[in-house]
Amino acid sequence: MKKGFLLAPGPTPVPERVLLAMAQPMIHHRTPQFSDIFAEAKEGLKYLFQTKEDVLILASSGTGAMEGSISNLLSPGDEVIVINGGKFGERWGKISDAYGLKVHWINVEWGKAVDPDEVRKVLDANPQVKAVMVQASETSTTVAHPVKELAALTKIRQDCLLIVDGITAVGVFPVPMDEWGIDVLLSGSQKAFMLPPGLAFAALSEKAWKFTETAKCRRFYFDFKKERKNLANNTTAYTPAVSLIIGLREVLAMVKEEGIERIYARNERLAGATKAAMEAIGLKLLAPGNPSNAATGVYVPEGVDGGKLVKYLRDTMGVTIAGGQDHLKGKIFRISHMGYVDTFDIVVAISAVEMALSKFGYSLEFGKGANAAQAILLEGYE
Ligand SMILES: Cc1ncc(COP(=O)(O)O)c(C=O)c1O
Repeated sequence: MKKGFLLAPGPTPVPERVLLAMAQPMIHHRTPQFSDIFAEAKEGLKYLFQTKEDVLILASSGTGAMEGSISNLLSPGDEVIVINGGKFGERWGKISDAYGLKVHWINVEWGKAVDPDEVRKVLDANPQVKAVMVQASETSTTVAHPVKELAALTKIRQDCLLIVDGITAVGVFPVPMDEWGIDVLLSGSQKAFMLPPGLAFAALSEKAWKFTETAKCRRFYFDFKKERKNLANNTTAYTPAVSLIIGLREVLAMVKEEGIERIYARNERLAGATKAAMEAIGLKLLAPGNPSNAATGVYVPEGVDGGKLVKYLRDTMGVTIAGGQDHLKGKIFRISHMGYVDTFDIVVAISAVEMALSKFGYSLEFGKGANAAQAILLEGYE
């Protein structure tokens, strides 16, 4: 017997009560019964996104919301700034390319956050730029970009939007859309939403909705204006992911019960404990300066193959964490602490990493990482 622990940055574990809610017999989506569920989910999403705006619910993975926000807001030939400090920043650029936009790339070293001053300079030199695209949390490098500072730059430019991929940020740490002046905020179900993959979310500011009036990129399935019209009637344009939306309602009830501030505090505590543990066993963090509380990226020690380490943890120990992507493949591992993850999941992850590293020949004192984490974890108990 091997008990599994899922600590990868998506998909994340799904709480038992959400699984049970989703296991109910199927209902038809054009019914008052479903519309009531949808209406509750719709309201709960505003709380999680910290916005008074509608949050669209799309049946797709997170990339669908990324693509939709480009195709619904922009036109071929439009110029955009893409902050590329990892796999998902790069994806903004690739989608923009596919839609015929002209991309001004701001490349950021993996593990570092963008300097808002650099963005300001590119904006000043290119006043025709229509949008800045960024990740609030760049999952591939476990970096949090300075969204608040970027919003301050775009807020004062009437013709420029800030489009934020909050796929591993919403429900992890504060990205208050209205307060900061974010124009588009996206997320996806398989991260802090504690749901299986399959739903994406997109919220647009008033300024962003104005862009939808003139945007000329081709689109069909992801038609935000059409979705908004349907949302007003507590439904979606096409067949919704009924079971996932039933699960979403349950998740949002859990979010309300815990309270958003407490959720942020829990994530911060778990992230702090993970980082302290990794440093206590002599490992180097990938993003020491601007870490995201969604996941902690750690360099594998010299002489250890990161790919084999992650595989051993998963296949032999039953503890799933993530490895690195692209040039970080085999060089790092990432432990997620977002969503349905609590104190003892982190203790398990840290102990497992200690044991696996030892198995691969890294010299360490057992319990040193767990010990450092426990002190921080204990502080958080109310
Ligand atoms: C920050 C970020 N953006 C975008 C995506 C892509 O989402 P999906 O794989 O759900 O399409 C992910 C998924 O890991 C992500 O972490």
